[in-house]
Amino acid sequence: MRSGASAPGKVILFGEHFVVYGAPAILCAIDRRVAVTASANGTGRISISSALGSLESPPGRGISEIAPALRPLYFLADRMLAGRQGTGGIDITVESEIPPGAGLGSSSACCVAAAAAVSGLGSRIPRGRVLELAVEAEQTIFAGTSGADCAACMHGGIIRYSRDGGFSSIGQGRGFSLVIADSGTKHSTGSVVGTVGRFRGENRAEFEGMCREAAGLVEGVPGLLARGDAAGVGRLMNQNQECLRRIGVSNTTLDEMVRIGQGAAHGAKITGAGGGGCVVCLAGPGGPGPALRGFERAGYGCFEASIDCRGLDTF
Ligand code: PMV
Repeated sequence: MRSGASAPGKVILFGEHFVVYGAPAILCAIDRRVAVTASANGTGRISISSALGSLESPPGRGISEIAPALRPLYFLADRMLAGRQGTGGIDITVESEIPPGAGLGSSSACCVAAAAAVSGLGSRIPRGRVLELAVEAEQTIFAGTSGADCAACMHGGIIRYSRDGGFSSIGQGRGFSLVIADSGTKHSTGSVVGTVGRFRGENRAEFEGMCREAAGLVEGVPGLLARGDAAGVGRLMNQNQECLRRIGVSNTTLDEMVRIGQGAAHGAKITGAGGGGCVVCLAGPGGPGPALRGFERAGYGCFEASIDCRGLDTF
């Protein structure tokens, strides 16, 4: 028996970090995907093959014994086998178009696709349960995840997400074009979130104020999207970047990239945890060309992305 699923990566357009503390965020899925295939095997072992490593192991091991990059996959396979009779095992293969550690949702897309592929080996479960499983799997690498990334990878399109309010679709961004530029430095979401937690501990009132400011920006976005006002969305992205800079998740490289993006597009900001990773720009009236050329001239890897509206797909 064989079951496959794919899910898109994502960018965070508004509200990263503040979402961890209850503020709403806006994310969109992008047209770069992770595909996961799961097959039942007769070996009684869990076997994983991905560009981030491979593993062949019996089920039932403590998750801390597993290499971090493979933990979500092992967790999902182990959970599936624990609920079954018999001596079967599971093979998992991952193919990804998304660079890891860049804030583009490679691990979340992998968790969503793997949760669907592995659970597809058993009796059918609702999509909501697939999302819960994906978030539990992601928690094996970052226990404090807000769950926003998995929701975006699962749903596709543009979503508004908050920890207590869940997620809702706020459009497909028709006519919007994104440019994503990579600083070339990988980041660890957990450690940048930890740094922000320390900033918050030392600057409680200022942080609360920024949470409210970031939340206020989010509230303005659905109306702008509905009117197709890319310039308005870009202006709010630039304001959101200022909040991110103030909480200390930018650096000189990211500042330079944001300057390039803001000079050549409607708006530009860090996407994801920061400290490294990527900058996302909303292309201006001249299309993606000016931002792409600006990043290329400065030596940064970059690409045009469009908004994925498929979300999770099974095959
Ligand atoms: O893993 P990244 O770089 O996409 O960042 C995740 C977004 C954070 O808000 C920083 C953390 C979270 O769980 O929402």
